[in-house]
Amino acid sequence: MPDKDEGKIARNYHLDVPQSGGGGFVVKGQDGCDWGTKNRLARMFDPKSGNTVMLAFDHGYIMGPTTGLERLDVAIPPLIPYVDVLMGTRGAFRACIPATVDKPVCLRVNYDSSVLYDDMSVGGGIACDIGNAVRMNASCLAVQTFIGATGEKNSLELLARTVDAGNDHGMPVLGVVAVGKQMERTEQFFLLATRILAENGANLVKTYYCDGFEHVTATCPVPIVIAGGKKLPEPEALTMAYRAIAEGARGVDMGRNIFQAQNPIAMCRAIAKVVHEGFTDKEALDYYNELLRT
Ligand code: 5RP
Repeated sequence: MPDKDEGKIARNYHLDVPQSGGGGFVVKGQDGCDWGTKNRLARMFDPKSGNTVMLAFDHGYIMGPTTGLERLDVAIPPLIPYVDVLMGTRGAFRACIPATVDKPVCLRVNYDSSVLYDDMSVGGGIACDIGNAVRMNASCLAVQTFIGATGEKNSLELLARTVDAGNDHGMPVLGVVAVGKQMERTEQFFLLATRILAENGANLVKTYYCDGFEHVTATCPVPIVIAGGKKLPEPEALTMAYRAIAEGARGVDMGRNIFQAQNPIAMCRAIAKVVHEGFTDKEALDYYNELLRT
């Protein structure tokens, strides 16, 4: 049994050594996957930058009508041309996103307790099974996990069974690291949580930015995309995106820092410059401000 405090001794992250592992597929750690899974991932990650801008608008599944998402049908469609992947629930896609949309769908397939519950991790389940996800033409399935919380066992079971179902259908799975009341947003926590999700089969992992983030991306054998979390002033959100990419994230899966921005379209475009074109946070902010003026 490994010592859970093992992290207190010096570690070697080999930050200067790119992860090896196969035939050069653009998405980290996925060379061993079947053609269908790789084809779906290739739709999500830009072939040149190897990165992705995912737009998360699944908040209503536990939070109800979040600020900025009171009307999904009004808020989301104008942003679609400026992002690479749409992440939401089956109900949101069906009711509010035109079926003519030509962007890959990352479908939130689990349900959880609502924000009214004291312990949100207490136990969720599968809201949309693999057959229905295929019917939704999903390119990826997203499952929330609660590492270190009451719901850890249940959520890892949901992740593992979703990975099994995904494997049977060539469907990648995004493991989402939840941070509840009990969980600290520390390097140690994210090192642990992201690695657990990857080793339990997630093809990509969504987590939060933290100090020491380059260690988190180095030790996670699959791509990491960052959530934005609560709304920050636009310059800070761009700095967070910039640091995350500079420290090894392969993209963002952001919600509130986009749809609650003063100008959500401009924010999508500025973040895409960071994610795909190597803009610094300062360059991205100049670009954002320029878009506000035009
Ligand atoms: C929660 C999620 C949300 O999609 C996530 O929080 C992204 O949104 P935001 O950038 O607003 O945090 O996966 O589990």
